[in-house]
Order: sequence, then structure tokens, then C-alpha cells
Amino acid sequence: MQIDLTGKIALITGGGSGIGRACAHTLAAAGAFVVAVDINEAGAQQTISQIGAGLAVACDLADPAAVTALRDRVLAETGGVDILVNCAGLISYRKGINAVSVDEWDLLLDVNLRGTFLVCQAFIDSMKERRDGSIVTFSSLAARVGGIEVGIHYAASKAALIGLTRTLAKEGGPYGITVNAVAPGVILTDPVKQQVGDHEDAYTATIPLQRLGQPQDVANVVLFLASPLSSYITGVVLDINGGMYMG
Ligand SMILES: NC(=O)c1ccc[n+]([C@@H]2O[C@H](COP(=O)([O-])OP(=O)(O)OC[C@H]3O[C@@H](n4cnc5c(N)ncnc54)[C@H](O)[C@@H]3O)[C@@H](O)[C@H]2O)c1
Repeated sequence: MQIDLTGKIALITGGGSGIGRACAHTLAAAGAFVVAVDINEAGAQQTISQIGAGLAVACDLADPAAVTALRDRVLAETGGVDILVNCAGLISYRKGINAVSVDEWDLLLDVNLRGTFLVCQAFIDSMKERRDGSIVTFSSLAARVGGIEVGIHYAASKAALIGLTRTLAKEGGPYGITVNAVAPGVILTDPVKQQVGDHEDAYTATIPLQRLGQPQDVANVVLFLASPLSSYITGVVLDINGGMYMG
């Protein structure tokens, strides 16, 4: 079966780089009209110019007023959203609870957790009106097994997103809206490449599939969760980690 998202509007936060950009390309290739949202406006614009169509919107998800402005603009320009991919996030490597300041905790939780809450809140009513839709949130391996290299604030934000996802799945279900989380393992995007450095072999040794992940590995799963192929799946956390954790 061919996945055809023609006529669907897909809003992707964090669409200006890494996994979000791969999701933008993949959903666009399946026919969706993509709205790439990012605090990095140039990155979002680059994604849309690479695709050749779509809408790039600058937005700082840590700012509730900016998310309201995002909602108003996107609803005015597109009429509504069918697919919501909450990929934007800050990744932070910190060793030990004492290495995380209150300011760092607040900023990371504001972007990763509250930002996802605000974006879902902004678009859920228009999705309910359509009585159809898919929401994908971004958890992490860190939420499944506890952060080791990533900070405690990062792991906490990603674990909390699982509760958000399941609660929203219960609310969206009667409206035909599925809400699922992906939990990537070690995926080679810019912040992760910096951390992995020349220790790739040490990571690979812990992975049954014997390679680190690529953004496309995650984008393929997001495509599935955004498509009718997954219409009876909601409230799940899909691990994408090469077997590092088998829940
Ligand atoms: N790469 C991995 O190994 C991995 C593993 C597990 C989970 N994740 C999650 O996947 C998602 C994408 O990560 P990535 O690896 O592609 O990293 P990335 O840094 O390439 O992408 C994150 C994007 O979020 C945007 N962003 C950051 N703060 C923002 C804000 N305040 N408002 C709007 N946009 C903001 C960034 O500009 C960037 O484009 C994140 O949620 C991350 O936590 C990644």
C-alpha cells in the first residue's frame, strides 16, 4: 500500500534541522503540505526551499505568546492542521543532578515539555473539528532507561511527555485523533554527533543492530504514525533505537 498524504497539512516543530527536517522531507514526499516551525528561522526556510513548497514559520516555543501567534497565522493561512509533529527540543548533556542549574532546568522543560503542551493546545480544537488527525510527540531512550549522558532535566522532560501523550490520546480518541510518542535512541544529528565524537564504536557495541540511527530512521516511523496505516494505534511509545532498549 502506498502512503498518500495529499491534501493533508503537516506542522512540524523543530523542522529547521535534524530529525524534524527529515520528517518534513518525508511527509512532503508523501504529498503533505508542510509547515516547518523553528526558533531557527533560516533553518526552517532552508527546509521549505529544499522541499520546494510549504510554509516556514519562526517561533520560540518557550514563549506562550509566540505559540498563540503561530496558531493564528497557521490557521489563517492553511485552514487547519491534520498532522502535528512535535519534534523541537533541546538536548543537554550534563553529568549528575548537581550539574543542572534551576535556569537550565526551567529553559529545557519550557521548550521540551511546555512547548509541546502549548502547541498541542493551540491546534487540538481545529483537529477535533476535522474529526481526524495524528499527533506525534518526541520522547527519548533517556525516558525509558534514565539519562546517562543526557542531563536529568532532559530525561525528566522526555518521561513527562509520555504522560502528556497518553492523556491527550484519551481526549483525542473520540474525535478520531491518534496521539503517539516516538522514543529515539542515538540518532546522528548535529548535537549528537558532537557528543559521540570519535567514540562511535563504543556506542555501536551496545546496539544489537550494530549502527547508530539516522534521522530518516525516525522520519519513517513518524510517516507511519501520521498515516492511515496506524489508525488503530494510539497512546503508544515507539522505540527507535536499534535494540538498545526493548520495552
Ligand atoms: N538525536 C537523537 O539522538 C535524539 C534522541 C532522542 C530524542 N531526540 C529528540 O528528537 C528531537 C529532534 O532532535 P535532533 O536530534 O533533530 O536535534 P536538533 O538540534 O537538530 O533539532 C532540534 C530543533 O529544535 C529547534 N528548537 C530548539 N529550541 C526551540 C525553541 N525554543 N522553539 C522552537 N524550536 C526550537 C532547534 O532550532 C532545532 O532545529 C528533539 O526533541 C530531541 O530531544 C533526539
